[in-house]
Amino acid sequence: MAEKSAQLTIGTSEKPLDLPIYQGTMGPDVVDVRSLTANNLFTYDPGFVSTAACESKITFIDGEKGQLLHRGYPIEELAEKSDYLEVCYLLLNGELPNKEQKQSFVDTVTQHTMVNEQLTHFYNGFRRDAHPMAIMCGVVGALSAFYHDSLNVHDPRHREVAAYRLIAKMPTMAAMSYKYSIGQPFLYPRNELSYSENFLHMMFGTPCEETKISPTIARAMDRIFILHADHEQNASTSTVRLAGSSGANPFACVAAGIATLWGPAHGGANEAVLDMLTEIGDVSRVGEYINKAKDKNDPFRLMGFGHRVYKNFDPRATVMRQSCHEVLKELNMENDPLFELALRLETIAREDEYFVQKKLYPNVDFYSGIILKAIGIPTSMFTVIFALSRTVGWIAHWDEMMSGSNRIGRPRQLYTGATERSFTPIDKR
Ligand code: SDX
Repeated sequence: MAEKSAQLTIGTSEKPLDLPIYQGTMGPDVVDVRSLTANNLFTYDPGFVSTAACESKITFIDGEKGQLLHRGYPIEELAEKSDYLEVCYLLLNGELPNKEQKQSFVDTVTQHTMVNEQLTHFYNGFRRDAHPMAIMCGVVGALSAFYHDSLNVHDPRHREVAAYRLIAKMPTMAAMSYKYSIGQPFLYPRNELSYSENFLHMMFGTPCEETKISPTIARAMDRIFILHADHEQNASTSTVRLAGSSGANPFACVAAGIATLWGPAHGGANEAVLDMLTEIGDVSRVGEYINKAKDKNDPFRLMGFGHRVYKNFDPRATVMRQSCHEVLKELNMENDPLFELALRLETIAREDEYFVQKKLYPNVDFYSGIILKAIGIPTSMFTVIFALSRTVGWIAHWDEMMSGSNRIGRPRQLYTGATERSFTPIDKR
């Protein structure tokens, strides 16, 4: 029950409206504005920057402190001490697993990593040079055509099975989209490998020999998966929730999330960062691009900088930067020109008054692309890996919503179009 309330006075004659204020365990209080509709009023918040669209217990972000918690655990600790499948369990179930729970979860995911052999035919319908995100939008959405036994979205067991299938199969489908683009055969998952080793195997292995996987690279890959796993009500997660609120099946909802993530302002930024660094090319041109980013008449933005919520550092970028050093050292690429350019760009941008004043810091996408490129992942696959990682976040939010008293989402609008008028016959126009 609300302990506080806000009074909203409309005009001078009206009795003030009493709007309940709710307090969460962390973060800002919220004003319940649902009674406004009965008073013929809507709130106005394009982009939902000031709107709590739901109640959630999964992830908390404090943009001022640069804090990111998954079920209360700081991302820095999870990235250092946990692994991706354990974080998946945490996001889905709310608690870290004990040894038996973890082994059972890992075994279940492992047993679902293969895809129906029919699915391979979907790939043949695409051009070889199709963007892998285009393929993923299509193939993930098509999963609902294969799994009629887990489409009752109101059955918790069906939701659990769909979650396992999506987490397990995303690496397989992602690697298949890469193999298809280079004309190599698809590789089956290997049950003796860890989640990240399996992905690297399916990406870089061939049927001709055993795949050699560096433990450092596998660890870096797993850390990248952890850092991208969930991020509260971001654009793609909000899309998945809205799609799911209509009762759509989880595969269709995740396909909608993939489509949203593809945008360069969102998950497509990691690919755009590498394209930008390649275009800048040399430290001597950094100043030119910083000026472009500051020029209001120039649509160019410094990709990998800024965030809708973080107005201080993005804690994921800090961890990612450290991983960058480790991977480049392991690969003897410490003098990698792109990494050096990125470090210089970060230093110069962070000293520039425009970026300081607007609190634009590197975000999770700024460094991830450099690690992925160092590992040998092609730029076009960067956002696919983001989608692979974020699938657990999408499905955890979808399940949380479907477990509650879900109603279809239906935002309203401020209408400024034509008022009612009669149809004019064409010979009178
Ligand atoms: C992700 O929401 C999430 O949680 C997303 C995400 C997740 O895990 O799901 O964290 C993943 O999407 C990270 C963000 C990746 N995107 C990019 O790196 C693309 C480059 N960044 C920008 O497009 C931008 O910063 C956004 C889209 C991320 C945020 O856009 P906003 O909310 O419009 O930025 P803002 O309101 O904080 O901007 C304040 C000002 C604006 O100028 P004014 O209108 O006040 O004059 O800063 C400017 C912006 O124009 N600005 C930039 C800039 N980002 C914002 N100027 C130059 N370069 C930039 N990168």
